[in-house]
Amino acid sequence: MCGIVGYVGERQALPILLEGLKRLEYRGYDSAGFALQGPVDFEIKRNAGPVDGLVEVSKGLGLTEKEGIAHTRWATHGAPNETNAHPHRAGEIVLVHNGIIENYAEIKERLTASGVKFSSQTDTEVFAQLIEAKRSRLAEDSPGANPETTLIAAMKAAMAEVEGHYAIVLMSRQIPGKLYGIQNGAPLVGSTLKDGALIASDLQAVIPHHNEVSFLPKGEIFIADRDGIHCAGLKVEKIDWTADKVEKGGYESFMLKEIFQQPMVVADTLTGRLPSDPKSPFIWDHQKAHEVLWKNVKRLYLVACGTSAHAAMAAKYFFERWARLDCQVDIASEFRYRDPVFEPGTVVGVISQSGETADTLAALRLANERGVSTFSICNVPNSTIARESSFQYPTKAGPEIGVASTKAFTAQLTVLCALALDVGRLRGIQSARDTEQESFLGLARLPQDLDHILSRSEEFIRIGETLGKQRIILFVGRGTMFPIALEGALKFKELTYLPAEGFAAGELKHGPIAYIDPEVTVITLAPKDEWYQKTVSNLEEIRARGGHLITLGTEGDRVLEGLSDSFIGLPSAAWGTAPILSAIPLQLLAYGCARALDRNIDKPRNLAKSVTVE
Ligand code: G6P
Repeated sequence: MCGIVGYVGERQALPILLEGLKRLEYRGYDSAGFALQGPVDFEIKRNAGPVDGLVEVSKGLGLTEKEGIAHTRWATHGAPNETNAHPHRAGEIVLVHNGIIENYAEIKERLTASGVKFSSQTDTEVFAQLIEAKRSRLAEDSPGANPETTLIAAMKAAMAEVEGHYAIVLMSRQIPGKLYGIQNGAPLVGSTLKDGALIASDLQAVIPHHNEVSFLPKGEIFIADRDGIHCAGLKVEKIDWTADKVEKGGYESFMLKEIFQQPMVVADTLTGRLPSDPKSPFIWDHQKAHEVLWKNVKRLYLVACGTSAHAAMAAKYFFERWARLDCQVDIASEFRYRDPVFEPGTVVGVISQSGETADTLAALRLANERGVSTFSICNVPNSTIARESSFQYPTKAGPEIGVASTKAFTAQLTVLCALALDVGRLRGIQSARDTEQESFLGLARLPQDLDHILSRSEEFIRIGETLGKQRIILFVGRGTMFPIALEGALKFKELTYLPAEGFAAGELKHGPIAYIDPEVTVITLAPKDEWYQKTVSNLEEIRARGGHLITLGTEGDRVLEGLSDSFIGLPSAAWGTAPILSAIPLQLLAYGCARALDRNIDKPRNLAKSVTVE
């Protein structure tokens, strides 16, 4: 998390830095700051709170410098105040940082003992002071040495001492016109522009300037100057995202825009992959290798965090039914520290919108180290997870900026649904309950069905607006609707900060039923599927105890309508696509409630979109 931007070139740096920070704010918004290389000294400005505050305090300062670094912070070490805001200055250098320095405490103790004074509680300042201590010692030992050679030697020596995953960018007073940095497990993207060089934590801040970018290689020190980015092993890639994809486009929030993009995103994700009939193979990037992988698979682990883990949970139902494949779903932060059994034929699939989530990446690396075949379902092209997995089944959701994931989730479910159908076909399975054909057709018409549901968005938003006073909201579902209930609860708590929990309908009576009273709303997903009758019985139990009931069911279901305080009728859907369609009203309920409570829709408090720390 945390967003870094650096610019050096012929234009004024400050507007470029601030605009870049705004685009990276989804990575954290506890504080923001910048440093410019001025004629006399660094111009440093830092401010607690989101980037807009920094924009306000820098108005009228007349800062026209052409070189600078900037940062938007998601606090890890030290409170989210101005003192702990980046950049951090240490002697001749000023530095911004993303990631965590795990052994910062012992380095700080050592530096403090040698007389270094710290002004913040951050691990970042420790890194800055360590580089500066090494730089000044080297400079003292070789007074005539080139300052750049000394700085790079100091950075290398510091890197050898610090432990953790991080990215840093820094400037030195002695070397105007240049930025220096290292990507060590936290991404940095660089681009050589016509008039200089731009560095950022993510594509969003670079694409509006140029679509030819380089993902900076891990462990290499890079230099950026008027002529571009210089680094060993640099590869330039063209990205097909356009600047308009990172704008709100008239919507009041990115989240709302992204909710409405879902029909298009699903269509893009299926384009070129969906065969003309259900018996033919789906079309994937590495068709032969794909076939070999899945013909020999004996067990599948799907590993992810947050919303992506809910997509994995829904996919378990698909893979078990259509491919008769032992599929286990794991939360990445648990998986990486367990001792999972990898027998021959095990495949590990990781799912991640950002492709940078630290725990998911660690889970992938664990599987890679153990020689297991791996694949990823990522939304960000060339992200670390995408690059380090053996196979990729990318989602084509485009940049997702709202912190609460929406379109990436539906795109993940779309890929997983298609993949499970295809794996079933490859393995020659005809499932006993025969939902393949209807689900294949359901996939083909998914964009239209999503459009239809979205045409009723106002209705869902209005129901959401009524929920702000409830003591707790419970989301309940069975089968494939269980993960959707979990996702509904996650969206709700992320956006509204109100208590919300998701449960398997069958688990209600094992505890959660104790919550039920009229101030508790239970949102139940009860489409007319094979579990329908059982879910209706669970609804009766809640009704009997006075709970407030909102039910999502199949259009025209009079039983549910009679039982519920509000009934949301959805068109009858295929078994495989019903979870995708049911997710939409839940996104809009959460949105409606959050908007009525005046919450920050795109940047809910304390959260970050890309969680690159454990
Ligand atoms: C954060 C985000 C969630 C996301 C999760 C996993 O918590 O706020 O929206 O689901 O990380 O992220 P990933 O990028 O790996 O899907």
